[in-house]
Amino acid sequence: MKPFLSIENLTQRFPDGAGGELTVFEEATFGVEKGEFVVILGHSGCGKSTIMNILAGLAEPTSGGVIMDGQEVKGPSLDRGVVFQNYSLLPWLSTLKNVSFGVAARHPEWTKAEVEAHSTKFLAMVGLEGDVIRRKPSQLSGGMRQRVSIARAFANHPKLLLLDEPFGALDALTRGTIQDELLKIWGQMEQTVFMITHDIDEAILLADRILLMTNGPQARVAESVEITIPRPRNRTEIVEHPNYYAIRNHLVQFLGKRSKELSGKPSAPGQANTPATVRIDKAQTTEDPEDTQPALRAVNS
Ligand SMILES: Nc1ncnc2c1ncn2[C@@H]1O[C@H](COP(=O)(O)OP(=O)(O)OP(=O)(O)O)[C@@H](O)[C@H]1O
Ligand SMILES: [Mg+2]
Repeated sequence: MKPFLSIENLTQRFPDGAGGELTVFEEATFGVEKGEFVVILGHSGCGKSTIMNILAGLAEPTSGGVIMDGQEVKGPSLDRGVVFQNYSLLPWLSTLKNVSFGVAARHPEWTKAEVEAHSTKFLAMVGLEGDVIRRKPSQLSGGMRQRVSIARAFANHPKLLLLDEPFGALDALTRGTIQDELLKIWGQMEQTVFMITHDIDEAILLADRILLMTNGPQARVAESVEITIPRPRNRTEIVEHPNYYAIRNHLVQFLGKRSKELSGKPSAPGQANTPATVRIDKAQTTEDPEDTQPALRAVNS
């Protein structure tokens, strides 16, 4: 059976500006299950936003396609919510209206009071309550605006939530608070999330699975690393889990070394490029204390 979201033989080429072609990625093939939180990590320019724009229906691939819930993605839809780095709020609307206009569009049968109650609930979930929700975005801090865009995305309960470096512009402290809020909301609803970040610790905290991309051009989604750390997770305790540093080291190694070594290898035409599954679980490798690299073994096998 197909996964909830199925990315099939996705190839993207752009004109390179010198009369030739730039192959961003070729035949990328992977799936995302319903309710899963998947994070994609890779160096700048490898093609993460390009993949996300295709998933959102905002861009068309050169070849291949995306099937979500049995239907081909062919353009933007309320079924897919997107949060960009620059939080794109509508400046002339209040905070509450920025959330409620989408809710009203999604639930035309609801009364104004129902729409407002639903929107207010999601704003409260990200810590925005009281008078502040009557303010315009220009009267909010950057972190508050980011929370509004997260509340807006979750309030619409899209089938797929796409987050492109949503916390990139925030200071570490605010970022931590919003990560906690995102985890809390995600834990309360069945929400499929696909997120881009450059932050390894953020990725481990949030993800069920991390997809690792090699460097571009001709990048590949080379690995799918399962995050074998139980939920609920919290930022201070997660680092004490025995799998934490093993997973972290694996990711650092990949981004520092193997993302280069594995890049630029063209794939055979029509042959799906699927990621290797990596499962790092110290608890299951205790019989063999000498084996400090179970992950690499998994990749090579
Ligand atoms: N519309 C376009 N026309 C031509 N080239 C493009 C276009 N969009 C993206 N590219 C190229 O495709 C490659 C991948 O870009 P993309 O924005 O997907 O990278 P990214 O992984 O999101 O990087 P970052 O981490 O810096 O955001 C880059 O080489 C970029 O120059
Ligand atoms: Mg990008």
